[in-house]
Amino acid sequence: MAESENSSGALSALSTESRSFPPSEEFAAQANATAEWYDRADADREAFWSEQAERLSWAKKWDTVLDWQPPFAKWFVGGELNVAYNCVDRHVEAGNGDRVAIHWEGEPGDSRTITYADLQRAVSKAANALAELGVGKGDRVAIQLPMIPEAVISMLACARVGALHSVVFGGFSPGALKARIEDAEAKLLITSDGQYRRGKPAPMKENTDQAVEGTSIEHVLVVRRTETEVPWTEGRDLWWHDVVDAASDQHTPQAFDSEHPLFILYTSGTTGKPKGILHTSGGYLTQAAYTHDVTFDHKPGESVYWCTADIGWVTGHTYIVYGPLANGATEVVYEGTPNTPHEGRHWEIVQKYGVSIYYTAPTLIRTFMKWGDDIPAQYDLSSLKVLGTVGEPINPEAWMWFREKIGGGRCPIVDTWWQTETGATMIAPLPGVTATKPGSAMRPVPGISAIVVDDSGTQVGNGEGGYLVIDKPWPSMLRGIWGDTERYKETYWSRFAEQGYYFAGDGAKYDDDGAIWLLGRVDDVMNVSGHRISTTEVESALVSHPTVAEAAVVGAADETTGQGIVAFVILRGGTAADDDAKGDEAIKALRDHVSKEIGPIAKPRQIMVVEELPKTRSGKIMRRLLRDVAENREVGDVSTLADTSVMDMITSGMSESKEE
Ligand code: WTA
Repeated sequence: MAESENSSGALSALSTESRSFPPSEEFAAQANATAEWYDRADADREAFWSEQAERLSWAKKWDTVLDWQPPFAKWFVGGELNVAYNCVDRHVEAGNGDRVAIHWEGEPGDSRTITYADLQRAVSKAANALAELGVGKGDRVAIQLPMIPEAVISMLACARVGALHSVVFGGFSPGALKARIEDAEAKLLITSDGQYRRGKPAPMKENTDQAVEGTSIEHVLVVRRTETEVPWTEGRDLWWHDVVDAASDQHTPQAFDSEHPLFILYTSGTTGKPKGILHTSGGYLTQAAYTHDVTFDHKPGESVYWCTADIGWVTGHTYIVYGPLANGATEVVYEGTPNTPHEGRHWEIVQKYGVSIYYTAPTLIRTFMKWGDDIPAQYDLSSLKVLGTVGEPINPEAWMWFREKIGGGRCPIVDTWWQTETGATMIAPLPGVTATKPGSAMRPVPGISAIVVDDSGTQVGNGEGGYLVIDKPWPSMLRGIWGDTERYKETYWSRFAEQGYYFAGDGAKYDDDGAIWLLGRVDDVMNVSGHRISTTEVESALVSHPTVAEAAVVGAADETTGQGIVAFVILRGGTAADDDAKGDEAIKALRDHVSKEIGPIAKPRQIMVVEELPKTRSGKIMRRLLRDVAENREVGDVSTLADTSVMDMITSGMSESKEE
């Protein structure tokens, strides 16, 4: 390893992946974008974005494409539009009112079909109801709902009247909801009586009532979903079916400024209180619609699109609500968990609706792998054309499984890198244009500029790693942190202040061809004997071993090497680990495997076999907690963990594990 790499603080780029899949001629011939888009965008970025903004219907055209006063951007300055009109009404006006917007599939097996004309009536009713409740331009509305059509309708109704929504994931506690209501000073909460979880109704309103107590909330609008008995506060609480159903289905949308706020979405940092990420209208919708179109090769009226995210995450906002609906998509929305009532539920839905674009998270793909190849094999998945992933780096192993077992070896996979803060996809291959490599997000989409730099902000060369930064403003960028301008500057713009780069917090590398590989959050980087090693690369090496289903790797303090690599692995079904002798052998095999794949430097000091890994509710591994375990500390705050019992299981196992 070159000395300079360490002193510059860049990440070591260790693993190599040589497989590459160029697009088929057939796919390329019908693709929405071509290679020329990259050059056109590079030649004149503002002209390119202006062209993309023409996808939308503007009530008033903008005067200036971009006003950039670092780190504050305004896009399509002077333009006016209504976001909900763009996502709903204009499709009806274009004669597509009968097109299905949403194929909704409830967890218990009920379903609803909503056309664009239906959606227009539903959103208009909800908008009229909001207005009656005194909710208008600039007001904040908190939404905590399960994945039911009313979640989408509520968001669009807010957009229609110019109110900002703050959607809070359905699994978040009353405390988490309360903190978000208070920070945004929301005046209305939209929630439901209950929600289905793994086949059973679970309470919702009972919890949200605790969150509302003593806050700025004036009314609680309650959707009936599970028909559960709920506590009721007269005067404050209102049933959706009373208020919204009774409202008129005629509503004339008003145009708002391009920079009018659209929503706040809270994202938790590793420390401190959640950050209210603020997005606005024209630029956000432009990039949402554009990326949905070109990265998924979406064909309106033909494609059946399914994004499996929850509406409570940014992926649900951009790629269930705003991007697809702006493009007149027909999409599947599924309420439940992937194994209710059986582990083939997703593939059954793909078969039922003839899904052609399927967008999901790597953590779910690894879960499907664990459940076994025989499950998807029982369904007809031949309608699939494009597959996508988001949320974390995807291991080459999981990527190949996805390609072969789900995509039948014929579907391009788009690994899309972005963040709540970026609003929409930034780095991803274009299907039909860009050759793909298992585990790489490849290159920024046309119009976006992102580079990998060293400690001093200098771009690194091919084969080298460092920090991922975005060096030019983009339309869907966050406009700030709600109520905290200083924190916005400090969090995102201070690391490379001199250069004016947005620092995303992620490590990345270029391979020998210049393709970008994401290496995980830099806070998670391990430093072993002076070499900065990415958790992602070691995890990928572990998962590439046939016995491993999932792996999480952390650096733990080590007297000799600074940090030592500690790995937590879940074995695939059928691998015996209870037998001590066999277990030791399996662990030795894994350590050797990593050493062979990446190099002896990356050989884990210790490997622990576990049943589950601590994950946030959006599926990201909480390495912070594993570091506590690996360093024998009391485990820290587990409140954002999806299943808090996981940590007890891991800590009790840790005391029995063997170190080398
Ligand atoms: C990670 C989700 C590698 C990354 C849209 C980022 C990824 C964080 C990818 C943002 C990807 C997301 N490859 N890592 N394709 N996509 N990430 O805000 O660490 O929930 O900074 O947004 O997820 O997570 P967020």
